[in-house]
Formats: sequence, C-alpha cells, structure tokens
Amino acid sequence: MLKGKHIILGITGSIAAYKAAYLLRLLIKQGAEVQVVITPSGKEFITPVTLSSLSGKPVISEFFTANTGEWHSHVDLGLWADALLIAPATASTIGKMAHGIADNMLVTTYLSCKAPVFIAPAMDLDMYAHASTQHNLDLLRSYGNRIIEPATGELASHLTGKGRMEEPEKIVEILDRFFETAQPLRGKRVLITAGPTYEKIDPVRFIGNYSSGKMGFALAEACAEAGAEVVLVAGPVSVKEKHTAIHRVDVESAVEMYNAVLAEYDRTDVAIMCAAVADYAPETVSDVKLKRTGEERVLRLKPNPDIAAELGRRKRAGQCLVGFALETNDEEANARLKMEKKNLDFIVLNSLRDAGAGFRCDTNKVTVIAREGSEVEIPCKPKTEVAADIVNMVAGYFANKD
Ligand code: CTP
Repeated sequence: MLKGKHIILGITGSIAAYKAAYLLRLLIKQGAEVQVVITPSGKEFITPVTLSSLSGKPVISEFFTANTGEWHSHVDLGLWADALLIAPATASTIGKMAHGIADNMLVTTYLSCKAPVFIAPAMDLDMYAHASTQHNLDLLRSYGNRIIEPATGELASHLTGKGRMEEPEKIVEILDRFFETAQPLRGKRVLITAGPTYEKIDPVRFIGNYSSGKMGFALAEACAEAGAEVVLVAGPVSVKEKHTAIHRVDVESAVEMYNAVLAEYDRTDVAIMCAAVADYAPETVSDVKLKRTGEERVLRLKPNPDIAAELGRRKRAGQCLVGFALETNDEEANARLKMEKKNLDFIVLNSLRDAGAGFRCDTNKVTVIAREGSEVEIPCKPKTEVAADIVNMVAGYFANKD
C-alpha cells in the first residue's frame, strides 16, 4: 500500500532518532518516496548524510539552505505529502505541535500539512506520563492526528517503563494498514451544510430552530477522517470542528447558506445537506427593535431558496448529493418523495417519533435510502458512529461507480 506514497518523515531530538534510519529504509523498501525533515536537535542524534543517502533526497532542516539561499516551502511540502510521520517525536515537538509554535521547519510543515499525521512519541517514562505531555497528546488527537503509542521496555535512561518509540516494523505496518482501509474518500471534495439558519425579524429577534449542528459536524469529521477535503457551511452553532482538513464557512441565514454552497458546488464531489434550513424568512426586516404595541401583529413570510433542490438541478455526472429528511408522519413515503423532488442520491431519514433521534441529542437513529434502491437502518448510536456509517455508504457509491 505504501508504493508511490509521498511520506514526510519528521525526526526530532531523541535518542530513538537512530531507529529513524531503519524506519526510513523500510519505507523506501516498500516503495514510498520519503522526504526527511529533521529538527536542529534531531541532527545532534543522527547525521543528515545517513538519511539523505537512504532516502535519495537532501534532508531538510532549515527554512533556507545556507549556501544557496534556497527557500524550502513548508506549504508545498505539506501539500505534496500523503502522510506526515513524526518518529521519534519528543515531548518538546509534541508540545509545539499542540500549541502551534512554529519555530522550526518540521512544525511549520506540520501546520501546513493536509495529509494524515502519525506521531510516534519517544521519551523517558516520567516525561511521557506527565500531565502536560498527556494533555498535548490529547490535543493532537483532537486535531485528528494519530498517535502511535510508545512501547514499554528499557529506556535510554536505563529505567524501564512506557516511552520507547514503537518499533519501525510496527510503524510501517500501521501506515500500510491505514492506506489500505482508512481513506475511502481520499482525493474527494465534500461540501456539508450543518446547523440551523436564523432569519432576522429585527436586530434582536429571529426565526430559528433547535438544530445543534452535531450531526453535520460529525459528518464533516468522518469525511475528513476518510481522507476528503471538507467545506463545512455552518449556521449559528456552538460546536467546533477539529480536523485540519475541514474548512468552515460561517453563515446565518438561508440565503447566506445558499450563496456559500453555490460558490463551492462546482468543485464538489459529494454534497451532504444536513442543515435544518428555514423554509421561510420575514418579508421585511426591521432596522430597529420592534416595540410592544399591545395589538396583534402579523409577520409576513417569504419563501427561502431550497438549497438541496438547487444542487439537484445543477448536479452533473459524478457528483453525489445526500439530503436529510426530518419527518413526523408518513416518514418513508415523504422521504422518498423528497429524494425524487430534489434529485438526491441518498436521503437520510430521521423520525421525530424515534427516541434518541433528531435535534440536540448526541445520538441518532436513521434510515438511509439510496436512489438505487437499498435501504439501510442504522440503529440508535452516537452521531459520530452514524456519520461514519453514512460516509462508508457514500464511499461505497463511488467504489461501485469506478
Ligand atoms: N433543505 C435545503 N434548503 C431548504 C430546505 C431544506 O437545502 N430551504 C435541505 C435540508 O438540508 C435537507 C433536505 O433539504 O437535506 C430536506 O429538508 P426538510 O426540511 O426535511 O425538507 P423541506 O424540503 O424543507 O420540506 P418540509 O419542510 O416541507 O418537510
């Protein structure tokens, strides 16, 4: 699976840096193209000459090559990579990565990198167990990075405990398995809408709904995990995206969401319309706060654009369009009708009658109906897991088309 893959091997200042030479050799043997980026203290432990001889490429350490003045673009490097592997990763580099302290070529490359990141820590047992290190590792996990847990054994300090960098063979196996299974949406661009929309009445009031955005954000994370580049158009929500492959665009009203979505749609392979878009907006928006008059008041509403239906009209061959339907009665018939009307490839049906499904909860229970006929019931489980199931179905759709 590693044949032809572009891998950045980041090496930092740990005694385990000597194992990086063997790791590099194994990656090259598997057919990977490897660019080594080493930190200044990494060079104290292993000479770049060894590494460039093994990789067949000059080792990058500084932002500039001293004698030629050539600039090394961390941005280009980050885009070139299919994976960034940092092995060994010291507590210091882990801390810098967790907090965006970009004072060397490796951390700047990390911050620019769109590819999956694997981190193999190596340090003394007490450093590894320290709350600060563990907190930083948790932060890196929350960014979608993968930590290759260190092994337990004798350490450079002659103490025994957890902190030894995982063996190179094992690291290569982890990468290999990752490329085999984990990225069915690699190279795809996914557009997702999430959350509610707010339709202004006056400067302090709006028409909204109870959507929390959790399902849409879970889908965005699952798509990014599956290797996609994600544009997430979000209504007003308090959830936050974590994965670095998610580009978030914040909007408030249905019209803003419509414009943001249409600006992206042409470049999109998959569009997942998960937002609870208001179907109507006040016909006029007052510039000043409306005062209580004691009289009855009538709010005239005008229809909002139907974003999913517009995408259905514009859909071209090769694009996959997924909609959601939240129904309270005649669920399946209504959902199928929506799928037809909006020219969707899949519709994800939520029923408000199901416990643990729909707005504001962390779980969902849905039925995914495919235009091509299949119908899959996903039992009540965390929205993150429901999202992973939906993403697998979308990936399957592309696999069948290819
Ligand atoms: N949708 C949209 N733009 C709208 C309304 C809905 O993109 N203005 C999308 C939703 O994101 C969802 C699908 O269309 O993917 C169905 O939304 P839903 O609110 O269930 O359907 P409506 O078409 O609004 O029909 P109704 O409210 O009458 O059930």
